[in-house]
Amino acid sequence: MKKIILLFFILTSLFSFSQEINIIPKPVELKTGKGNFILSSKTVILLQDDANKSSAHFFNDYLKKYYGIELKLANSAKDNFISLKTRPNNSNPNPEGYNLKVNNTSVDLTGFSNEGTFRGVQTLIQLLPVDRQPVTTQQQFSIPVVTITDYPRFPYRGMHLDVSRHFFPVDYIKKYIDFLALHKMNYFHWHLTDDQGWRIEIKKYPKLIEIGSWRDGTIIGKYPGTGNDGIRYGGYYTQDQIKEIVKYAADRFITIVPEIDMPGHNMAALAAYPQLGTRPDSIYKVAQTWGIFGKMNNVLAPTDFTFQFIQDVLTEVMQLFPSKYIHIGGDEVFKKWWKDCSTCQQFMKTNKLKDENELQSYFIHRIEKFVNSKGRTIIGWDEILEGGLAPNAVVMSWRGEKGGIAAARQNHYVVMTPGSPLYFNHSQLQKDDSLTAGGYDPIQSVYNYDPVSKELNGKQAKYILGAQGNLWTEYISNERKVEYMIFPRMSALSEIVWSKKEDRNWKDFKKRMTGQIKRYDLWKVNYCKTPIR
Ligand code: ACM
Repeated sequence: MKKIILLFFILTSLFSFSQEINIIPKPVELKTGKGNFILSSKTVILLQDDANKSSAHFFNDYLKKYYGIELKLANSAKDNFISLKTRPNNSNPNPEGYNLKVNNTSVDLTGFSNEGTFRGVQTLIQLLPVDRQPVTTQQQFSIPVVTITDYPRFPYRGMHLDVSRHFFPVDYIKKYIDFLALHKMNYFHWHLTDDQGWRIEIKKYPKLIEIGSWRDGTIIGKYPGTGNDGIRYGGYYTQDQIKEIVKYAADRFITIVPEIDMPGHNMAALAAYPQLGTRPDSIYKVAQTWGIFGKMNNVLAPTDFTFQFIQDVLTEVMQLFPSKYIHIGGDEVFKKWWKDCSTCQQFMKTNKLKDENELQSYFIHRIEKFVNSKGRTIIGWDEILEGGLAPNAVVMSWRGEKGGIAAARQNHYVVMTPGSPLYFNHSQLQKDDSLTAGGYDPIQSVYNYDPVSKELNGKQAKYILGAQGNLWTEYISNERKVEYMIFPRMSALSEIVWSKKEDRNWKDFKKRMTGQIKRYDLWKVNYCKTPIR
């Protein structure tokens, strides 16, 4: 009798233990049921075709890495399976949508496209237990019975990474892309060029990496700093490495938007090819300090050589990156350098440009025409509004929301990334021990941010594609610090771009964050121990 009672307790504790469900971003609809699906090494992943193989591999890799278990793929099974399939949903055309049904004997995940299946895998991952550390000895665990219908609010859900101020190797870029995938983000904005280093191999201009990807030292401490470390610093991605990363992201249904910043922020390119500059006879050097806006002549001169250079660079960039969007920067162009340059003034006269704002606009229009001719669309920082927007340009609003609002009112698509609260290089603690850029943007501010400004009417609101968190790396020199700055804010961002606005609820989010923090621990990532209250 005692044995039976003991068995009863073991069985009930195994099967009726109700696991907390903490999914971030919050799904559109979630119904809980009774009991669990027991996942063990005998469970198979059921695939009817190869189209969802990358989703199956992502799930399996996750299980292997964090739970020490690997499932077999099969094309038929009676029970104890996790089925991944794709069916277009006529009543919901959102390709990223999915239905997930967990019952006692099987799991059925149906994406409205293969992309939707992949997003659904991220939810399934979040139904795995987080209360234990990697379960290498425990070969089975439970997934609670649930029915979920889900799809994103915005089509652009992005994270940015600046690899110019500090360089991050291929393996870490892949890890960063995995973080995006786990948060259902679908765009990685890769800031590849800037004053402090050119990071992408361009075959036609080899000096960009030979000279432009290295600097002879780096400022110590917070700008203006306490000196220079005098240590040569640099790095770049070969075209083969870029292809590998683009494929890695595509397998996760993440599009990489490359940024080649112009006509400002170009000290590294100028160091390699001074003939691009407004003072081609001067000595340009890859920048070693931050905060150089206006103090250093980093702008390209509008000449035939420059325009040919840009077209050649973008041609190689577009061969590497299939993204519809190509980011061409456009920010912080200090016009004084064009004012002081006779060639530039002559160019303006010839082209009937009345001031330097019009020259900036001419520049962006001209490059847009070229990019459009290749079937792509430009994105630029909100300065591209100055002097008139290029006809098809998408605006990334960073100096607050003003630029984004103005662009949406002109029927231009917009990605919102206002410095406050979406610059994740700002501090998230009122007093941070580590060095950060100015600004205080805690997780609460991120969670309370809405990408659709109240100033927009319904028609204009449709031009808001979504939002993005930016990580400028002046004060982020290593991988642990990257994680410290993006976590936990990225979890809040994922919810404001994915979940329905009506479902926004700080108290509920806070509760779900307790599960998410355990997940961070499982991933062994570094996160800011910011008070979430
Ligand atoms: C920017 O932060 N300069 C876009």
